[in-house]
This record gives sequence, structure tokens and C-alpha cells, in this order.
Amino acid sequence: MCGIVGVLGDHEASPLLVEALGRLEYRGYDSAGIATVNDGGLARRRAVGKLVNLSDLLVHEPLPGKAGIGHTRWATHGAPSVANAHPHQAGRVAVVHNGIIENYRALRAELAGLGQPPRTDTDTETVALLAQHYLETGLSPREAARQTLARLEGAFALLFLFDGEDDLLIAARRGSPLAVGYGEGEMFVGSDAIALAPLTTRITYLDEGDMAIVTRAGATFFDEDGHQVGREVKTIEPGAARVEKAGYKHFMAKEIFEQPVVLADAIRHYLSDDGQTIARPGDEIDFAGIDRIAMVACGTAYIACLTAKYWFERLAGLPVDVDVASEFRYREPPIPDRTLALFVSQSGETADTLAALRFCKGRAAQTVAVVNVAESSIARESDLALPILAGVEIGVASTKAFTCQLTVLAILALKAAHARGRIDDAALAGHLEGLNGLPGLVNVALALETPIKALAQRLAEAEDALFLGRGAMFPLALEGALKLKEISYIHAEGYASGELKHGPIALVDKRMPVIVMAPHDRLFDKTVSNMQEVLARGGKVLLITDAAGAEEAGEEVWQRLVLPDAPELVEPILYAIPAQLLAYHTAVAKGTDVDQPRNLAKSVTVE
Ligand code: F6R
Repeated sequence: MCGIVGVLGDHEASPLLVEALGRLEYRGYDSAGIATVNDGGLARRRAVGKLVNLSDLLVHEPLPGKAGIGHTRWATHGAPSVANAHPHQAGRVAVVHNGIIENYRALRAELAGLGQPPRTDTDTETVALLAQHYLETGLSPREAARQTLARLEGAFALLFLFDGEDDLLIAARRGSPLAVGYGEGEMFVGSDAIALAPLTTRITYLDEGDMAIVTRAGATFFDEDGHQVGREVKTIEPGAARVEKAGYKHFMAKEIFEQPVVLADAIRHYLSDDGQTIARPGDEIDFAGIDRIAMVACGTAYIACLTAKYWFERLAGLPVDVDVASEFRYREPPIPDRTLALFVSQSGETADTLAALRFCKGRAAQTVAVVNVAESSIARESDLALPILAGVEIGVASTKAFTCQLTVLAILALKAAHARGRIDDAALAGHLEGLNGLPGLVNVALALETPIKALAQRLAEAEDALFLGRGAMFPLALEGALKLKEISYIHAEGYASGELKHGPIALVDKRMPVIVMAPHDRLFDKTVSNMQEVLARGGKVLLITDAAGAEEAGEEVWQRLVLPDAPELVEPILYAIPAQLLAYHTAVAKGTDVDQPRNLAKSVTVE
């Protein structure tokens, strides 16, 4: 999940490389580096930490050259250090890499035997050493790269730069995404369209197993068998990858506040013009012809699936299994014939989710992806891809993608319920009316920012927190806890309210904030009982509820946040807003790096 970029320019490459790396920093920010080729040869600059450290270094030690490669790292093998930072160089070749070379130990041993002992802890260095070894046997750069690639096991995107070759980049994709961009007499390579967005609107994605020979005249593609192949040039929308903070202090804040707009976009895309029926998907999914759904995802997207399980089961009468992708892929569960396999992913590149999708292909009746990045691997490899239309999400902690995923999944559940005869036209129109009101409700929830900010000052003093919810609010409790821990570093757990007494209640004392997410619905009284169990042990309850819930909750509650009344279907989407704002302002109060929290990366393209 590192970011890689390459430039064959007609100006100096290093400013372009650094700028493109800035757009890829969401993929990792443990270290950054660039290498260029110029008359003086192949040279590198690398720095630990954020990209700004590399920029500072380049001010003092500029790197001339019009051809270059760059990398922003999320450490897998070897601690973040200058020695482990990419590009890795061996003799005449420099390499940047995203992914994992699984057989690197065997290769290191072999290279040591050849008198080329590795000097870093990384798997990537073996690629540079191997390529250099093949160059020394007299092979051309292209042949050396080809031979090297043939020796590698694992998942990777790689970019090679060679000394003395200032009009050549060699790119290869196996498992991790990579795109070539076309300029006027210039060429670019990047991990994704975001990296290339301001440089060009014309790009070609490498297919799985492809190698590309890139010169300023264009790119030639070879498939995994070495045959030259044509690959489609796509035009990406200018602005599709806009990545400004638009006056907000953090991308996360901007993305939280964008939600009324992007949710309205998603709803408009899937519903008919009058909002009374579902326009998309049409009959591409045969909901009447399936017996169950298998949903697979990671992290926040997994939590979206857990929420959707309540909808599919309750509304459409379809049994749903939800799995974390990393478990699903190796458990290799039986997939009965009439199973719809549904994959949810913001990036569309999450390695475990992609592997789970590949496992289901040919086994499930149909594979459907719910993705944000329309051109991603998961979108391209599934039978049907449904966009969530959240726009580019930069904050590492997912916010608007989560609520857009939920919205699309809610529409799918309604579609399934209607197609299976569980709800009639009138009931469908009623649910859709509720959905159409969602952006307005979200606006009202966002207006609670000031009281939430005040609460967050108090929450920032806590070392632990519990989140509780029942029914479709249980996954929301998981999401509230996940958001809080990943950006504020406060230890937080989400539990089903009824599960508290089976263990976690032992943690409750007067220092423990317990955030209860409970609209006044048919389960409210039960949740109030669980809340009483917390209060009886001195716990501090923050109740997130609606007006009726706030009135019935009792005096002992420490704090309450009152959301507008909402139809049951959209409640989980609405209740995500205070959870996001609470995590955000707690993190700001603690002074953490909100958009790039420690140890995380946005796109997890390694196992
Ligand atoms: C948490 C978060 C992650 C992602 C997870 C899956 O805020 O963003 O848990 O949800 O890494 O990523 P995608 O959705 O890109 O497959």
C-alpha cells in the first residue's frame, strides 16, 4: 500500500515527483524518496517520515534530471529508516515497489551467494539486486527486468529506472494497481489516477501480470505470457481526483461535512427522477433467484456489511453471512450455487477483499462490488460494480465512504425486498421517501458540531471508551469505537448492548465513558436497561438518541446528544455522523495527526 510514481518529462522531474507523491501520501507516510537519471548518473534522495522531510532535503540537495521515480512508504519489511526507504538501488538500477515479495528470503540467500549481500531489511532491495545481476550478465534493461519479474512471488507493482537510460521506465503489475499516463511528449506512471490527475487525463491501467515499456513516445504493453497486447486508453474526468481541503483544517472534516452532498448524489444516481422507484441496478441482479448473500470486506467497509445484514434479512428475508476478507479468503467456505457474493471496498484495491472476490468467481451465482474507485481492481474484476459516488476520500479514517456504502446497500436491500415480493410498490416508495430525506437529516446532525466538540474535550481525557448499540445500531457502535481508536489512539470497544453483562461490564467504573447509540425504537427499552447497568456501576453514559429517547432516558445520564427523528432504515446512516464528529474532535483535542494517523494507510494492498 505504498504509493509509486514515475516521470519521463521535458522539465525537471523532481518537483513533479514530489507533487505526485503528495497526492499518494494517503497510501503511506513512513518515508519517501525519489531517484532520477541525469548526465551525472542515477542518484537518490530519501527521508524518513512525511513527504515534507523529503521536500526539505531536496532544497539543500537538489536532484537534477528529467526522468525519475518516486515512492511514499507504508513499512512492511523493515522499520521506517533511510536505508529501508525506496527507491532501492543496486548498481545501474533503481526500483520502487508497492506490495510484498514473498520469496525475498530465498532470493536474499541466493544473492548473497552471488556476492550481492543485501544491505537493507526490505524485500524490495532483492528486486534491484536481481535486476543488476541480470544487467551484469549482459542483458538489456528490458530483458533484465523481464528475468527479474519471472523470479518474483507475491503481489506487487514495480517501477524500474536505469542509469544511462533517460528515456525508459519499466512498469510491472502483479496484484497491485498501476497506471500509465500520457502527456504531450511526456509520460507518467502512478499507483492510481489520483497521482496522475493534474498531469494528464489520459491513462491506461496495467492488467494483472502486465509489463509496460514506457518511453516519451508512448507505452508498449506485454501480458503475463510476454505477448505484446493493446490496452485501452481511458479519459478520466478532470477534477475527478480533486484533493483540496477547501478551507477545512483536515480532509476528514471536509469529508464529514461533504456528506449531505455526496449522499444526495448517490441517492439521485440510484433512484428514478421522481424518487419513487429504484432506477439502478435494473435486472442485472436476480434477487428472486438467490437464496443467500455472502458479504465480504475489511475494516469500516466490513462494518457497513454488518449493518446491511440487518436490512437484507429483515426487509428481503435473505440470509446474509458477513466475513472479514482476511479470514474468508483462507477459510475457503463452501459457496452454495444460489449465493450472491457482495464485496464492499472504498479503494477497490484492498488485497484481502480482492482475493476473496477471486475465490468467489465461478463459485457464487454472481459477484457484485460496491466501490468508491470506479476503475479499481475490485470494480473491474467483479461481474457488476456499483459506485458509491462519495468522491475522493483522502482522510485515512473513512467517513463519507461509509455512509455512501450504507446508502447503496440500503437501496440494494430495498431492491431485493421488492424483487422477492416482500414489499409492494407503496411500501417501497415509503422507504425511498425516507431515504430521500437523509441528506437533510444529515445536515441537522452536522449542526451538532459545537456540543460534540465540547464533549470531545472531556472524552480526550479518557484512556478507554465503550460504545453500545442494539440491532442495526450494534455495527454503529463498532464503527464509533473504530473511528475513535484509529485517530485519537484512545482504546475503544464496540459491543452489542445486550452483551455488556457477559464480560465487558467488568471494565465499567466512574472513569469509563460509555457511548450508547439508541434511537427511540422498538429496542429502546432494552437498551435503557443495559444503560442502567452501566449507571449503577458509576459509568458515565453519553446517550446519542432522538427527542423521545432523550426524554425517557432518565436524569442519571451524563450527557445526551439529540438527533432528529428518522425512519428506521436510515437511522444507522444518520447516527454515523455524531460518531465521526466525536472521534474527529477528540483527535483534534489530543493533537494527533487526524488525516494520517500513525501506523495506518488508506489503501491496504498487502495482506
Ligand atoms: C477505517 C478504514 C479502514 C478501511 C479498510 C478497508 O476508517 O478506513 O478500516 O475501511 O481498510 O478499505 P477499503 O474500503 O478501501 O477496502
